[in-house]
Amino acid sequence: MTSTSNTSLSNGSADEIPSLYGPGKNVKRVRTRHLIEAKERGEKWAMLTSYDQYTAALFDEAGIPALLVGDSAANNVYGYETTLQVSVDELVPLVAAVARSTQRTLVIADLPFGSYEAGPTQALETAVRFMKAGAHAVKLEGGRRMAEQIRALTNAGIPVMGHIGFTPQSEHAVGGYRVQGRDAQAAEVEADAHAVAEAGAFAVVLEMVTAAVAAEITKQLPIPTVGIGAGPDTDAQVLVWQDMAGLRRGRPQRFVKRYAVVADVLQNAAKAFADEVRAGEFPTKAHSFE
Ligand code: KIV
Repeated sequence: MTSTSNTSLSNGSADEIPSLYGPGKNVKRVRTRHLIEAKERGEKWAMLTSYDQYTAALFDEAGIPALLVGDSAANNVYGYETTLQVSVDELVPLVAAVARSTQRTLVIADLPFGSYEAGPTQALETAVRFMKAGAHAVKLEGGRRMAEQIRALTNAGIPVMGHIGFTPQSEHAVGGYRVQGRDAQAAEVEADAHAVAEAGAFAVVLEMVTAAVAAEITKQLPIPTVGIGAGPDTDAQVLVWQDMAGLRRGRPQRFVKRYAVVADVLQNAAKAFADEVRAGEFPTKAHSFE
């Protein structure tokens, strides 16, 4: 990911964000329109998940323009096996913590399974809870089948990020973890993308979609596409931070790139601490009070 120079923008009004990158240069909050403007000038951007104070502040300082408090907190925070199990009550405090700990990044709250599918009224009630907790936008899964919900939220002034392709909350309905958009399915994924954009979403996640279909959708839509396992041609990319930083052990999915192995750093620190305690080397006088 390269950062684009600040000179790339035209007339620089007070609240314009010339580039989505550049930590410390601009503490103004990123807004959904900035992400759409980034697409217009061909600037790619990165989104990460975050579920807590420290990663939120670190990623904000690193210049990540959008943070997603994903329902992936189910696996990455709460230790559930799937995202189906996490509740609104469990996600709301995480959204509040991330929003409190950032100055610049756009904070997006994921609506969990069972909290919006019943219809626009249920979706609105849930989204309002997240917005009151400090979110700046919400995300929900589903294309054409969720158009009414997206329209109701945007009409109520709540920015919505769509999520199509492989949608983990409906894993059982789509027959498991599968790449979407191959052969005849391409038209289905494209129809979902257009439905989400027409319903008023400001961006759409494309998960595990073939690179060719994702590239075509990215060309066709006026709103940014955010890829995860969708090839190099989307406007933005998202990864779960524990995958990106290597906190999670085990073989990562094909679409993940590990930029560090934080698991080793943390485990080595824990071992060194335990060794020093056992050997009577910690604490020393320097860590004690007279
Ligand atoms: O919950 C999540 O982390 C997500 C991203 C993978 C897009 O939905």
